[in-house]
Amino acid sequence: MKKLTYLFLLAQLLLLGSLNAQPYKPSAGIDAKVNALLAKMTLDEKIGQLTLYTTDWGSTGPTIREGYKNDIRSGACGNLFNSHTVGFVRELQRVAVEETRLKIPLLFGFDVIHGYKTIFPIPLGEAACWDLEAIELSAHIAAAEAASAGLNWTFAPMVDVTRDPRWGRVMEGAGEDTWLGCRIAEARVHGFQGKKLGNTDAVLACVKHYAAYGASTAGRDYNTVDMSERFFREYYLPPYKAAVQAGAATVMTSFNDYDGVPATGNKYLLTTILRNEWGFKGFVVTDYTSMNEMVNHGVIADEKEAGELSLNAGVDMDMQGSIYQRFLKQSVKQGKVLQKQIDEAARRVLRLKFELGLFDDPYRFCNEERQNATLLSADHRKAAREVSRKSIVLLKNDKNVLPLQRNQKIALIGPLADNKSELIGNWNGAGNADDCVTVAAGLQGWSLTHVKGCDIEGSDKSGFDAALAAARNADVVVVAVGEKAMMSGEAASRTDITLPGVQEELVLELCKTGKPVVVVLMNGRPLAIPQIAQNATAILETWWLGTETGNAIADVLSGAYNPAGRLPMSFPRSVGQVPVFYNERSTGRPYNPDSKWTSRYIDEVNAPLYPFGFGLSYTTFSYSQPTATVSFAANDASKRYPKSPVTVQVTVTNTGKMAGEEVAQLYVRDLVGSVTRPVRELKGFQKIMLQPGESKTLTFTLKAEDLGFYRRNMTFGTEPGEYDIMVGGSSQDVKTVRVRLEK
Ligand code: BGC
Repeated sequence: MKKLTYLFLLAQLLLLGSLNAQPYKPSAGIDAKVNALLAKMTLDEKIGQLTLYTTDWGSTGPTIREGYKNDIRSGACGNLFNSHTVGFVRELQRVAVEETRLKIPLLFGFDVIHGYKTIFPIPLGEAACWDLEAIELSAHIAAAEAASAGLNWTFAPMVDVTRDPRWGRVMEGAGEDTWLGCRIAEARVHGFQGKKLGNTDAVLACVKHYAAYGASTAGRDYNTVDMSERFFREYYLPPYKAAVQAGAATVMTSFNDYDGVPATGNKYLLTTILRNEWGFKGFVVTDYTSMNEMVNHGVIADEKEAGELSLNAGVDMDMQGSIYQRFLKQSVKQGKVLQKQIDEAARRVLRLKFELGLFDDPYRFCNEERQNATLLSADHRKAAREVSRKSIVLLKNDKNVLPLQRNQKIALIGPLADNKSELIGNWNGAGNADDCVTVAAGLQGWSLTHVKGCDIEGSDKSGFDAALAAARNADVVVVAVGEKAMMSGEAASRTDITLPGVQEELVLELCKTGKPVVVVLMNGRPLAIPQIAQNATAILETWWLGTETGNAIADVLSGAYNPAGRLPMSFPRSVGQVPVFYNERSTGRPYNPDSKWTSRYIDEVNAPLYPFGFGLSYTTFSYSQPTATVSFAANDASKRYPKSPVTVQVTVTNTGKMAGEEVAQLYVRDLVGSVTRPVRELKGFQKIMLQPGESKTLTFTLKAEDLGFYRRNMTFGTEPGEYDIMVGGSSQDVKTVRVRLEK
């Protein structure tokens, strides 16, 4: 034993000695340390810091190179992803800090999107909770768990605004709204990065996918993107900016092009906007081989040129493409890129490694005990249950069938009623389906008969009879249906966004029994379910809630929790309405169902099935007429205006019989602008708890920029004239006050 302790101490001394051999004083500032280190580095070693490879733990695309240990050893690879758990990470980090010339520690990245081991709702679902503190907490727990398992970098948050539910990646973001997307982006960055980088419960955030990936044409993943600069700056760009300004340490480029130039080689995006306009100081990483894919985009002839285009555009790190590693040195020799650009990129990477504290202790994220105590802790599960129930949206509740009564006999039906495997959703980190609570398990103790009825996919209806028999014998039917988890996420676009297989048929058959039917939906995107909306008695949208699914759903079904989620994305009536979103611009022929010659369909109404911001409660709320005071004049949104130039007040009352939370939403419309303006835009919300009969007067304050926009000449600011300020319980249920901004 003594001998072992002695050997351990000796090893520590040797390690310290080797680290102390670093070319800087331990007391020096980070900049000085980085400069000293850079001065010692060869060009190859610098390029190694700009290289990120996946290990063979798991990957989302082809693994280009093997033998990553040798790459680490030679200094050719300075960063890894898809490597996690303390033992695995420690060994790889050991190679970096013991077997390389300069002993520079590795970064370890991973897609920790909605939890690491304790899985929270998918981001789209979580966005439905309209609770920024809850969202920040969820990101923070994900970070704490990831950081306890060796990781120090997450490829999140994904902040791509999207209006097309065909696109599978809608599940990863915050939905269709720009303003809500900004607030959620900030909350997630704060959650992941915690109080301070370097704390052992924080990881680097990576804002992705920059930029406008959510606007892939036809909702087809990896497709091209084109839109006006005005549209881009107004709707798509703000969440990336919000995340950067919230301190996000890194940014990931997107697969798509923007204005004809792939994002990974787009200097306008990466340098003009990101660095020059927003002052971003962290590093930019490509998406998975997106640098190589610029050859397919057809904007460069070969991979070497792709590297040059990327570096010159502002990309610091090459994810999995190995282009920088293979060609950048040659490009320097040929004068196609400058050595100082490589220095600058390496400086950005090294700086963050110092900030994370990796040079002081390369194993600071590798502590077995912390890992065991952190993962799936009781506190984390409790928080997950809380966030999960907050994310559930009650879409329909005829005759107040919900909450259920304890003495009711329940027929629990559907392929997702007792199915653990789907509940963690896509992008599920290191989550285990086995740790999930199913709906059946959540309802334990109730009088339950469980029958599956059918599969998620396929045409087999042989289980219908048993399901219908169970329904006839019950007081109420709860039927859990939806998509498979892998039907949304990357490379999972769908042209048909109805319920797959024969599930809808099963639900409609159950409805015909005359028993009240409560549909529990599980899905990663807005679905087109008009028949179900018409025939079911109640509908709960539960997304993919993760580890605590069943408990959260049971809390809502039983009334232990009064649902308060609101949709972050419109639900279309059919795929033919897509894209359908609330903040569209005014047309010259506004919708009129009685006139053919207006902007409409001849076979369908314009309104979505369920609009943005919609969600019911077990109680009801009423709104007073809002009032507003204006204390500024229109012009540039500059500092000389008061902090809160428009103040809006409204009184909300709980008119029902149960305590509940309301999400009071504030929308704005500029009636006459120098360019067409959206018919409404979210600019604020407050989530409040009200007891039955209780009223609260809410005050909203709007900043000049909330009324500003890119005017005809593309300067940002306000214009004089009238604005409608609307307050209410959804984007389509508001009361309006008109204000005037004077010149
Ligand atoms: C995805 C990214 C992800 C990366 C690494 C890519 O295919 O587009 O969102 O972060 O893989 O896993």
